[in-house]
Amino acid sequence: MSSKIIAPSLLASDFANLQTEIEMVNQSEADWFHLDIMDGMFVPNISFGMPVIKAMAEHAKKPLDTHLMIVDPDRYIKTFADLGVHNLSVHYEACPHLHRTLQAIKAEGMKAGVALNPHTSVTLLEDTIQDIDIVVVMSVNPGFGGQAFIENTYQKVENLKNLIERKNSKALIEIDGGVNADNAKKLVDSGADILVAGSFVFKSQNPIETIKSLKQQVK
Ligand code: DX5
Ligand code: ZN
Repeated sequence: MSSKIIAPSLLASDFANLQTEIEMVNQSEADWFHLDIMDGMFVPNISFGMPVIKAMAEHAKKPLDTHLMIVDPDRYIKTFADLGVHNLSVHYEACPHLHRTLQAIKAEGMKAGVALNPHTSVTLLEDTIQDIDIVVVMSVNPGFGGQAFIENTYQKVENLKNLIERKNSKALIEIDGGVNADNAKKLVDSGADILVAGSFVFKSQNPIETIKSLKQQVK
């Protein structure tokens, strides 16, 4: 079986030394960069926006996996495509016309992702799962890095995996929040394809080694 995707979240990186942090990820065994965009409305925090993403994109040598925690994300789909984003994930809870939003993301040449808050059931994707490239299962309440992993996530991932297989969808399952060496393997065994890790990577003594060990664990 092919190895799973590791996507370090730059939210936990040292913003005063972003270029160094990005070079670290470039040199590591990580597969993607995970970018968390927060608007202070959909979530109670503001992270970073377009000028910072533009600067990141100039140095990043791996795909940009962008997680929009914003209201009305349709407003910025083209802007993110122009910035060179590869995967664009919107929140189910922020999209009254999810089907239309997914088509708009794909029309701009990006992979379309849907993120689910912890309280949002995977059964709500029954009618869109065939149009989704990535489902981001939030294993914390979005808005902040460094929170504790919600244990119910394993069951949710199993349910989602069943839905994907039953519907013959090609969607990948991404887990976001509180991922570390204690839950990585069990998440992959439950059906996860992509693991986002913020604090566990960037707050560790040796991030390159931490990424390497995560990668080894989920082979
Ligand atoms: C939470 C973000 C996550 C976060 C993960 O709102 O979507 O991507 O940065 O950080 P850790 O791994 O520290 O939970
Ligand atoms: Zn995220």
